[in-house]
Amino acid sequence: MIIAVVNQKGGVGKTTTCVALAYNLARSGRRVLVVDMDPQANTTSTFGLSPDDAMAGSSTFAYFVTRGPLEPRETASGVHLIPSHIGLAHTERSLYAEVAREQRLAQGLRPLAASYDVVLIDCPPSLGILTYNALAACDTVLAPIQVEPYAMDGVSMLLDTVHDVRAFGLNDRCELGGAVLTMVDRRRNVDARIADTIRDALHEKVFRTIIPRDVRLVEMAENGALTLLDGDSQGAVAYRELTKEVMTRWSL
Ligand SMILES: Nc1ncnc2c1ncn2[C@@H]1O[C@H](COP(=O)(O)OP(=O)(O)OP(=O)(O)O)[C@@H](O)[C@H]1O
Ligand SMILES: [Mg+2]
Repeated sequence: MIIAVVNQKGGVGKTTTCVALAYNLARSGRRVLVVDMDPQANTTSTFGLSPDDAMAGSSTFAYFVTRGPLEPRETASGVHLIPSHIGLAHTERSLYAEVAREQRLAQGLRPLAASYDVVLIDCPPSLGILTYNALAACDTVLAPIQVEPYAMDGVSMLLDTVHDVRAFGLNDRCELGGAVLTMVDRRRNVDARIADTIRDALHEKVFRTIIPRDVRLVEMAENGALTLLDGDSQGAVAYRELTKEVMTRWSL
């Protein structure tokens, strides 16, 4: 099962969700591959790889920009990772005028996917060539949505793009399969109202589990301290609940 974690809005919790799901799924004995498609490489650093580490072997940068192989690496958490590097930002230029430029990732993942129960692709905050590659390669799309006033504007645009990926024959399987509400402050009535609006629009696509605001999750990213996900903070507990829902929904 290849899950693309997508929302072109920045800072909504894509990377945090991707890392937490990958970690928890690996904890539950699943074989997990994470593909970092974001030149910011936040997922890569959270899994403990420096830019030099990423440069030293296979990466999405090497694959897209210098045409190297796509080879996962094992991380300390048991999750396999294809890291990213800031140089991945040159993909648009390096693939300009190339054929099948949206299908490079799908092609590269094809021989790898059978070795994993789940592949999670972390996407950059834009709807460009890198995100199109993720949409073309995936079996489903998971959209983290930060609960804030204009959240649905971005999601509508994402739904249009997902529709186009199918309509133009890039990937028949591409659909929004799940949405998770992130950074919710339970004490704020406005958050509850916005969450209701999003549920009214996306119905059962929205997972029951809500991810609360939790500074522990920021610390996890700051220090690459993935074991914080085993703890009792509200965020860690919520991501464990979300992982269970994800396993049920997609039979993982
Ligand atoms: N539930 C949460 N509570 C508090 N902080 C959070 C939560 N989820 C994410 N954050 C923090 O918010 C910031 C953005 O989160 P994250 O990096 O996961 O979003 P993103 O969508 O991947 O961002 P980008 O679009 O830049 O890739 C980070 O500093 C992260 O640590
Ligand atoms: Mg990110």
